[in-house]
Amino acid sequence: MVRHFLKDDDITPVEQAEILRRALQLKQAPYSVRPFEGPKTVALIFDKTSTRTRVSFAVGVSDLGGAPLIIDSQSSQMGAKESIADTARVLGRQVAQIVWRTYAQTGLEEMANYAGVPVINSLSDSYHPCQILADLLTVQEHKGQLAGLKLAYVGDASNNMANSYLIGGATAGMHVAVAGPAGYLPDPGIVTRAELIAAKTGGSIEIHGEPHAAIQNADVVVTDTWVSMGQESDKEQRLRDFAGYTIDSALMAQAKPDAIFMHCLPAYRGYEVSAEVLDGPQSVIWDEAENRLHAQKALMAWLAEQA
Ligand code: CP
Ligand code: NVA
Repeated sequence: MVRHFLKDDDITPVEQAEILRRALQLKQAPYSVRPFEGPKTVALIFDKTSTRTRVSFAVGVSDLGGAPLIIDSQSSQMGAKESIADTARVLGRQVAQIVWRTYAQTGLEEMANYAGVPVINSLSDSYHPCQILADLLTVQEHKGQLAGLKLAYVGDASNNMANSYLIGGATAGMHVAVAGPAGYLPDPGIVTRAELIAAKTGGSIEIHGEPHAAIQNADVVVTDTWVSMGQESDKEQRLRDFAGYTIDSALMAQAKPDAIFMHCLPAYRGYEVSAEVLDGPQSVIWDEAENRLHAQKALMAWLAEQA
């Protein structure tokens, strides 16, 4: 059966651990696995801008023996001119996998329904599951474990990163605490899903209305931009609403002394995080950015085997 990775709980806890184990192997031996030998082509479609995702998927497909085909949707027939279902049917006949950064999660679901090849969500308005795989790999490298650790996410707790930390972190057995101002808290449906997963993995979920309680005793502190792609017109309002949510040294000091700081990037110094923390000794953001490559290679290789 063709498997897809559209959201963090499209894989089980055992499968997530397996993908992370392989990611570590691929980090040590980058050219040891060649599922796209041929070369087979992987379509990388972008409806939104990207640096890390574009580079890490393109390099990753090449490393796995394949050829990356980057498609900017503005310069293709996708959207108004041709339906997602028809696009999926065309691509599925020619490429080995489809990686898509887009807006609505429903679009990804439609692509997966018609493509006949694995579809990977490389960021939607709802989730950023590839980023969470990279983040989990980074935590594992720096802390030696995932299950039982406390991960605190402070900021826009209603966005794609928060959703993916809740679901993906629970899948890894972590204690995920998120904090956001009123109006920027996770959808109750996401919280329930994360709680159900956590009940099986030994993790837990906490939702807070202010940053201190969430960050208390955390092993891992994370944040993300207050203005996600597609929300630019709300920027001024958002900057007002998130006052007091900047992760600075004083807030970071409430986490464990050996806590690490992560950010999916791009980061806006002085807004969601101070320069002192982002560029400071607890920050592991460059390892995290590099790990996009290794985690996604492991994911693509694993999906190639399931198909
Ligand atoms: N973190 C992340 O997805 O970065 P890009 O938007 O640069 O791809
Ligand atoms: N929440 C951000 C993540 C960017 C990688 C966005 O969707 O723009």
